[in-house]
Amino acid sequence: MNRRNSRTVYLRGLIELSNICRKDCLYCGIRCSNRKIERYELPEAQVLELSQYALDSGYGSVVLQGGERCDSNYVERISALVYKIKHLTSDRTSLPLGITLSLGEQSREVYREWFNSGADRYLLRIEASNPELYRKIHPSGNDAEIKMHSYDRRIEALEDLKSAGYITGSGMMIALPYQKMGDLERDLDFLASMDVDMVGMGPYIPHRDTPLGRLSLGMKPEGVPPDDGDFVSYTREQRMALSLEMIRRLRERMPQINIAAATALEVLSEDGKAQAVLSGANVIMPNITTSAMRRNYQLYEGKSEVKDDAESTRLKLERQMERIGVKIGWFDIGNPGKFS
Ligand code: 5AD
Repeated sequence: MNRRNSRTVYLRGLIELSNICRKDCLYCGIRCSNRKIERYELPEAQVLELSQYALDSGYGSVVLQGGERCDSNYVERISALVYKIKHLTSDRTSLPLGITLSLGEQSREVYREWFNSGADRYLLRIEASNPELYRKIHPSGNDAEIKMHSYDRRIEALEDLKSAGYITGSGMMIALPYQKMGDLERDLDFLASMDVDMVGMGPYIPHRDTPLGRLSLGMKPEGVPPDDGDFVSYTREQRMALSLEMIRRLRERMPQINIAAATALEVLSEDGKAQAVLSGANVIMPNITTSAMRRNYQLYEGKSEVKDDAESTRLKLERQMERIGVKIGWFDIGNPGKFS
């Protein structure tokens, strides 16, 4: 039998905790300079309710994702939240929920604290492994900005995560402006050399309320490097094809790791996640954030599922996976090494 058709995908319920962010990344819709969105932070009770839903429904794990914040109150709130999620119980399973954090760069101490509170995994994308490209997609206005968006600091954070004991994930955006094929080759080398356990990588989707988005959409940008002939713009078809190609290449190279089907793929194609699974992805992160909040968490435009609720997302997913003959690992934490 075709190996790909006997595979299992594992689920993580994605909870978008907060869109408050101290960073100002030129591509991201929740960058701190974007005044057009309403900022929110989900109350703890609501996150616990969503996590309980994930546990009872057999998702196996949750991902807590949010903008980057470092104040000590926030750090403490996350610790308490992680602890409480880890101690939720259900009639339907005796296993605790797996917890993945995706909360940006933090100090070594904070990473340790959250790990000790019960977090299992951490996702920190390198975004672009070529330092030159990384610099072009991040602010460079003044020293403070440059320091806050430092490539070296990001590498250091990834190393801190590994030494804190997390199952560590990284990844990048594919088909970024200025990105060349050689950069994508380099990205694959980077993931292999970092020996990551998980990868989340997906297509770049322009957002009109960001400098890079404006540049990509042919609008007048501010705060981005002038087009010195280096600027490349990819079509939707190219972005889709490149993303799937990257998944295929990475799966060949790293057979045991977890590879997530990026939500951004669904902006390009309705069955984007299914195509990613057929190309080698084995993790899907259905969004379980309450619909009312989702419209304020648009990292990129046209983000799918904004109108759906958790239950319809789940049904759609089941049908999609059934169609391609892939099993869903309900009630399974789905740690790396289980790809078959
Ligand atoms: N297009 C695609 N992905 C994006 N992200 C942020 N902005 C965009 C965009 N415009 C991704 C980043 C980040 C993740 C949470 O969302 O890679 O790590």
